[in-house]
This record gives sequence, C-alpha cells and structure tokens, in this order.
Amino acid sequence: MKKIRTTTWTGTVDTAERPYETEHRKLAREAASAGFVLLKNEHDILPLDRNQKLALYGAGASKTIKGGTGSGDVNERSSVTILEGLELAGVEITTKDWIEAFNREYETSREAWKEEIWNKSETMPVDDSMKLFFAYSETPYSMPAGPMPDKTDTDTAIYVWSRVAGEGADRYCREGDYLLSEKETRILKEICALYRHVILLINAGGLVELSILDECPNIEAVLQIVQPGMEGGNAVADVLLGKVTPSGKLTDSWALRYEDYPNSGTFSHNNGDVKTEKYEEGIYVGYRYFDTFDVPVRYGFGYGKSYTDFAIEVIGIEHFHLGSDCPEIGVKVRVQNTGSRYGGREVVQVYVSCPQETIPKEYRRLAGFQKTGLLAPGAVEEMVIRFPLSALSSYSEMLPGWMMEPGCYGIFVGNSLESSAFCASLVLDDTVILERTMNICPLQEELKELTAPSEAIREKRSRWLDQAGRCPSIHIKDSDVVTGTVEYGTENSRLSKEAVQFVETLTLKQCIQLATGDPGKKQGSNLGSSGISVPGSAAQTSSCAVDSNLASIVLADGPAGLRLNKSYQVEDGAIVPMPFEMALEGGFLCREKKKPTGETRYQYCTAMPVGTLLAQTWDTELLTRVGKAIAREMEEFRVTLWLAPGMNIHRNPLCGRNFEYYSEDPLLTGIMAAAVTEGVQSQPGCGTTIKHFACNNQEDNRKGSNTVLSERTLREIYLKGFEIAIRKSQPMAMMTSYNLINGIHAANCYDLCTRAARDEWNFQGIIMTDWTTTHDGPDCTASGCIRAGNDIVMPGIPADHENMRRELEAGTLKEEELRRCVARIVKTIWESNQYEEAEE
Ligand code: BGC
Repeated sequence: MKKIRTTTWTGTVDTAERPYETEHRKLAREAASAGFVLLKNEHDILPLDRNQKLALYGAGASKTIKGGTGSGDVNERSSVTILEGLELAGVEITTKDWIEAFNREYETSREAWKEEIWNKSETMPVDDSMKLFFAYSETPYSMPAGPMPDKTDTDTAIYVWSRVAGEGADRYCREGDYLLSEKETRILKEICALYRHVILLINAGGLVELSILDECPNIEAVLQIVQPGMEGGNAVADVLLGKVTPSGKLTDSWALRYEDYPNSGTFSHNNGDVKTEKYEEGIYVGYRYFDTFDVPVRYGFGYGKSYTDFAIEVIGIEHFHLGSDCPEIGVKVRVQNTGSRYGGREVVQVYVSCPQETIPKEYRRLAGFQKTGLLAPGAVEEMVIRFPLSALSSYSEMLPGWMMEPGCYGIFVGNSLESSAFCASLVLDDTVILERTMNICPLQEELKELTAPSEAIREKRSRWLDQAGRCPSIHIKDSDVVTGTVEYGTENSRLSKEAVQFVETLTLKQCIQLATGDPGKKQGSNLGSSGISVPGSAAQTSSCAVDSNLASIVLADGPAGLRLNKSYQVEDGAIVPMPFEMALEGGFLCREKKKPTGETRYQYCTAMPVGTLLAQTWDTELLTRVGKAIAREMEEFRVTLWLAPGMNIHRNPLCGRNFEYYSEDPLLTGIMAAAVTEGVQSQPGCGTTIKHFACNNQEDNRKGSNTVLSERTLREIYLKGFEIAIRKSQPMAMMTSYNLINGIHAANCYDLCTRAARDEWNFQGIIMTDWTTTHDGPDCTASGCIRAGNDIVMPGIPADHENMRRELEAGTLKEEELRRCVARIVKTIWESNQYEEAEE
C-alpha cells in the first residue's frame, strides 16, 4: 500500500533564488516574447538599435502590468518592468523625470484606491468574509495618465498603454478603459508631435480601441504585449532590440470600433441587463462573424508581422486512417524564410470553408495550424498540418448529432485568416453522420439568432470553386467514415472498481465530507485562501478518511502560474492565519500589517504570461514546457490540482477575465489547453482543472447571469474547446462555471457534467464547482451538484453538508449518486502526488 507523504511546511526559510526559479524565469521570458504580436511596423522602424536613446512614456513603462487581478493573479518574487528591461539591455532612457513624476502620481492614486475599496466594502450586501473581495472586484484600479511630456534628446518614443482587469467585473467601452482617456489622448498626441517615431505597446488583458492610429501616422509600430508575466520587461527588450523576432499571432479579431462586435449592444452591462444574456449572434463569434458578414477589421484573426518574410507553398493534401474512428486530413506545406537579415518563425494556419447545403455555416473556420522552428534567412521547413475530419463537422439539432454535408470543402492556407488563400479541396460524396447524440441544454425561451447571408457566401464560394479542379484535391466517400452513436447512462461502468469498493467502506458522513472541500479551514471561504496546509492555495479536500489511507489533496489557482502566498509564518507548530487581503495584490490591500511572528517561510512561484499571451504563441510545444514548469512548482509546494487553464471563449472584448482565456476560437483554445495539460500531467500525480465549464463569458453578475443560447452554438463554440482538451489530454479535473445555461446552473447541470463530458467525451477525471457557487440561494445546491455528476463542491461549507444530509433523508438525493461522485474523487486522490510513490 502506498504511504501518504508526511507533511512538512512548504516553501523555504531561505530567500535565495532557487534553481527552478532561475530556469522558469527564462521560460517566462521566452514565452512572453514568443507571444507578442507585432501589429504594425512602418518603415521597418523595429527592431531598434540598442545604442539609440529612447523616450519612454505611459503607465506601463515603470508599472508594467504583468497579469490580471483576482484568482488569476500570481504572487511572484519580483517582476521586471519595461523600464528595467530596456535599461538592463543597455538602452539609455531620456524620460526618467517623466517616469518619476508618474510614479508619484501612481503611489498617491494607489493609496486612494485602497481607501475606496475599504470604504466600499463596509456597505457590500454580502457575507462579512466576502465584503472586501466584492469591493475589490467591483473597483478595478485605473492607472493615472501621468504628466504632459516634454521633448527629450531623441527622436524615438515608446508609449505603454496599460489596463488592469480581473474577475468579478467586466470592462467598459468608455474613456480610461476600452478607450484612451482624454488625458492619455492628449499625452499621446503630444508625444507624436514631439517625436518623429512613436512606438505603441499595448499592455492590457483585453483589446482596446485603436482609432488613435488613424489620427497619428507617426505611431509607426504597435506591439501587442498583453500582460507578459514577471519577465515582461526583458521580453519587451528582446523583441524591440531584435534579439527575438516577433512570431505571435492574434487569437482574436480586432474590430475597427467596439460597436462592430456583433453582441456589443447587449453584452453584460451594455444594455442594462446583467441577468439574461442572449447569444443572438449564435455561432458567429469573433472572426466567424467578421469573415462571414464581410465586416472589415483593424487586425484580423491569426494576424501578426515578423521582422522577416516567409513564403508558404502548399504541396499537397492527404488523408490518414480513413475507415477508423478518427480519420485525419493532412495539408503538406513548405515554408521558407525569404528575408535576408533576420531569422524567425512562422505560424501556418489552415482554414476550411464547408459546404452550406442545409445547415448555414460560418464562411471559414480554423481547422489546424503549426508553427515552424527558427528559420535562418533562406532556410526551409516542410511540414504536414494534420487535423481530424471531425473538425469539419457541424452540429445538427434535428438529427441530433455531428454531421458533414456533401460537397466541396475549400482549404485555405496562410499566415493569418486574411492572407490565407484557397489552395486545395476535399470533396465528400454524400452526407456523413460522424456521431449521433442526444439533445442537451434545451432552450427555455425563444431566441432569435442571427442568420447567415447565404447569397453572399454562395457568391464568395463560387469565386474559388472554379479553381478547385486545378488545385490538389482528395475525395472521400461517405462509406469511408465510421458513424458512432453515444451510449448514455454508463457512469457506473466507467468507475474504478477499487474506488467503488473503497467507498463502500466509508460512512455516509465521510462521503458527505469528501464531496466538498474541507470547511475546517482556518482562513475563511474566500477565493484563493481556503487551503489549510499550503497558504494561499484555493482549497483542500477532506482528511476524514486519512486513517483509511486516503490523503487530502491541495488545489491552487492559475492560469498564469501557481497562485500561493509569497510568504507565511509558522509559530508554535502551526501556520499563523493571515487576513484574506494578504492574498491580494501582494498584500498591498492590507491596512494594518502586523509585525510577523514566528518563522517566515517563502513560496516563490513564477508569474508566466497570461493565458491570451500564451495562446498568441500558437506554439503547443512551448505550452507543454510551460505546463511542465508549473507542475515542477506544484510538486515543490505539494499541490495536486492546478485550477487552470481557463478556456472560456472571448465572446466580447469587455469580459473582465479575457486575459485568463485563450481566444475567440474553440479549436485553438482546446489545442492550447491540451498542450498545457500534457505538460502538467507529465509530472506524476499532478493535474490540470480546465475551467469554467461553460459559457462563463461575462463577469458582471457572474453567479446570476443566465446564458440563453441554442444547442448548436453551445456545442460548436462554447463546449468545443473543452471537448478537444478532454479527448486529447484527459485533464485530471474540470471546474463548472457560476452562470446558468438556458435556465439551469452549470454546476447543477446533468447534461453538461454527465451527458456531454462523460458519456460523449469520455471524461475520466473529477468535476468540481467554482468557489462558493452554492452560497447564494436555493437554485444551486450541493445536492444538485451531486445529482448532476459534479463531484465536489468547493471550497466547502457546513451548509453544503447540511443540504446533502437533508436531501439524502428526503430521498431527493440518492446515496448511490453521492457514492459515485466520491468514488471518482477517491480515484483522483489515489493518483495524486500526495503519496510517497505517485502513480505514473
Ligand atoms: C474563480 C475561479 C478560481 C476560484 C478559486 C473563483 O472566484 O472564479 O476561477 O479558481 O475562485 O480561487
């Protein structure tokens, strides 16, 4: 029998940098620079010469925002700002006076902000323990603009435009947020008047309005750095000075104006209704909308410039494993760096235009992609970009199931959606049903969905259909494709027999305790501070069966690294409880800092770039390495489950948590999540928790907002990423979202947790709720979670236990349902790193 590892205090008493920190800093730097997207580079102003002096302005110059706030934050040892990064690289900055004046404004405004939060918290209509967090979430810090600039001794200036956002609140399309503030506009225009060359860096977790580019032509370069993690400043210097050639590509469409997004009128608070969110745009999210409806964008999906040029030649198209469960298509390409000065990497993207017989569709969708290695000038790389045939299917609610219509599937290849050109085709002779399913999550009210401009799409398709005969093509017969039918209601057969037997030996009381996080915590049930033995972790499972050798596992946030407290105290053999505010903003919000007593222990974690920036790398191998690094830290601090990656779709640029998520595209999202999971789970006993399942696309009223959408949209856009991640990488866990979907809380939804995740996609891990999901009334209960197959209620409070006891007595919750959930939890715990020998 494996022995539970003995618990010692995590972290170190020594503050010296540990070897893993040094190694992971390097990786954070590499990942950041690989994800930056060069949006504009007129007259090849970039890269800059390191001997040239630079004027540096903007809030993010000295206060670079490394990541978003809330549970997605990471308490790292220290971060490198852009000012520091440039100076470390030997650049002389001419605007130190401006930066010092800005810093003074910043310190004053931070103190005022802290007071505002504490004052607001007093009147928050929530539980005492939640007051500060609610006030904090609803009051994002707004960076000051700084003083007006003066001319300094250089002709080149950089302006860093920064925005803070985080969980619990959506952003606004107003000055100071999505738009530049009036003062920022004046400063930037003045900079453009004073300096010949201006470079704009965008340091925000989500998109911002870029119409200033039309007014100021001497903003010659724009670099989208998102929120780049603790090594951001060094990574910026690497790219600006040409040590690294930019190779990131946008994972979202950047509209000309906010109003161009199809749901801009109704998103979140925009129409004054945060209770019901009707997804009227249907499947036409992001580029699927712009490309189908021919709405021009400023920068399109998949776009990003380099310091060099590439030629992409399509050599052929082939199929693999026809007649098997998972037939694949491969597009063979040859990529050459045609520049003469810089090495670089290119992302080759494959888009497909599907026939539109009976089901109207987007004009094109991403089907596959691959990033080249570093190609020196003149160097060539050949690759085959493979994707499953199922990537070309659509969901028919009538069938119900996944199907492909007969006709010509146009294959487009390029280094962005816009540049991709028709180059090959796949012809299917008859309708193919890939998988028959049940209908799930039915609409409870009428929903009018946007309809596709079928005539315009036909016309666009006809432009290349003529050439299809002259391009490489493959034919697939319907009989080449295997049809499957999902078998539902098979949860019991999927359980581990050993776990089921073990659970039979547990009392009902123990089962109830195990079906929630441990409420015996000493630090309140607030976000990110409910863990007991690893300070700053988000929760821990019950130790009630420790005598039967069942360990308690620790869960900690992500997705930009591991979120733990940077330090904590141990006194008289116990961890000194810390006020919750110590877990936010590196303890800045703490009003009365007590003199630490006892022994101080340090838990230094690496702040990686945020999710969006990681995805902008389009580099799965890199994401797997990031996952491995995070697992190394999980192992260091005895964390079993990482509460990441965040996989919600960027439905609208104002979602406060977009920075944690990858993209507007489900395929890219799913592939990136799978890559990170593969990295984390290569460390035995460590696992990811993909979240928030599903449709957590807005933060205002996130616990009460009802997402109203069609089943097809749900499946093709909002569930697809989860499905891909599960099928490809079997994450150890998944977290449900706070919101309702067609009237049912996601946490209480059997259709999602059991039918879709387990029956259809064969998910074998545990499902947990988001934190405090069951606290707000009778609509979403602990028993409801268990019935749905949502195994563990987090972080767990006595009221959850009470609810289960009551419903078990009343017979509305069956003991079998509870024991089934506990069996899945037990299996996960047995596989965890809490035993001396973790299972491979
Ligand atoms: C967030 C989750 C997070 C959890 C634990 C919640 O507020 O929505 O993403 O994992 O807190 O910190």
